[in-house]
Amino acid sequence: MNELGITLNRYLWQQHQQLKQPSELSMLFGQMGFAAKILSREISRAALVGLLGLVGEKNATGDAQKKLDVFGNETVIAAFSQTGLVAAIASEELDEVQFIDCGNEAQYILCIDPLDGSSNTDTGSPVGTIFGIYRRNSRGNCATEEDALRQGTELVAAGYVLYGTSTVLVYTCGNGVNGFTLDPNLGEFLLSHANIRAPEEGKVYSANLSYYREWHPHTQKFVDHLSDRQTLRYTGALVADVHRSLLEGGIYFYPPTDKHEEGKLRLLYECAPLAFVVEQAGGSASTGKQRILDIQAQSIHQRSPLVIGSHRTVALYETFLKTGSSG
Ligand code: AHG
Ligand code: MN
Ligand code: MN
Repeated sequence: MNELGITLNRYLWQQHQQLKQPSELSMLFGQMGFAAKILSREISRAALVGLLGLVGEKNATGDAQKKLDVFGNETVIAAFSQTGLVAAIASEELDEVQFIDCGNEAQYILCIDPLDGSSNTDTGSPVGTIFGIYRRNSRGNCATEEDALRQGTELVAAGYVLYGTSTVLVYTCGNGVNGFTLDPNLGEFLLSHANIRAPEEGKVYSANLSYYREWHPHTQKFVDHLSDRQTLRYTGALVADVHRSLLEGGIYFYPPTDKHEEGKLRLLYECAPLAFVVEQAGGSASTGKQRILDIQAQSIHQRSPLVIGSHRTVALYETFLKTGSSG
């Protein structure tokens, strides 16, 4: 028999039919897939079309913007604006919430890191996109900034795209996690990782060890403990390191440092969406002291410490942070 793969669009249609997943969510994921195809194409040929290097500006959180950061931001805004379903977008590359559509149809709020790991763009290393989707709370015709200041437990959908050796889109609507790999010749995302489950433990940890001296002494002890038992991989792209932890087990952590007393990563468009995905796959995500999804955002570029991945290793991190030992 001729076995055809399941396309993302077909899968989304099935989810709508069988699980009554709102058709609006299917449309939003479809548009994320569309934007991801454009980004995948442009990232892979960036050196040929003048898309490498810096723009010469800094973004809202003080990072030097890459040309691909700007391209990624414009692409995702254009793709989601086409749907008429998005009221507002909070993006790493926008100083403030951007209001997109008003009215009855525009019931969703998008929080997005268009290009994660953008320091990797010029060296052929992996990058990603991270997105979280909320329903808007406000009753008026148009959304307000408060509609984007949310607690992760309110996420209705989240996911990421990894642009690595292949382009993979992973998402959840709160009933498991599935991954789709882009066949670049067909131009289709095909189901490749059905019902992803995160191993309870792994053999790999990911963190930027050059900050070791700046970390809390208990975090240092945790790393000393792990380095005797596990090996280290750090790509410089959160999406790539979290994806590996999801498939093979392991953790990623970015604790507070001298420069970033609250940690470097941003709650709304990095930590919370990935926390939702990883929890849905049976893993955990924490600040070290508190579940990421329980944090109420106070500002759109708010930062948070993050430890994410295999459930038991995240729990061990929390124990070390509290006691300075494995307990
Ligand atoms: P972004 O490119 O979206 O600003 O995110 C970069 C993040 C994350 O992807 C990565 O793990 C981390 O910052 C790298 O930071 P360090 O260079 O400080 O390790
Ligand atoms: Mn990022
Ligand atoms: Mn980014």
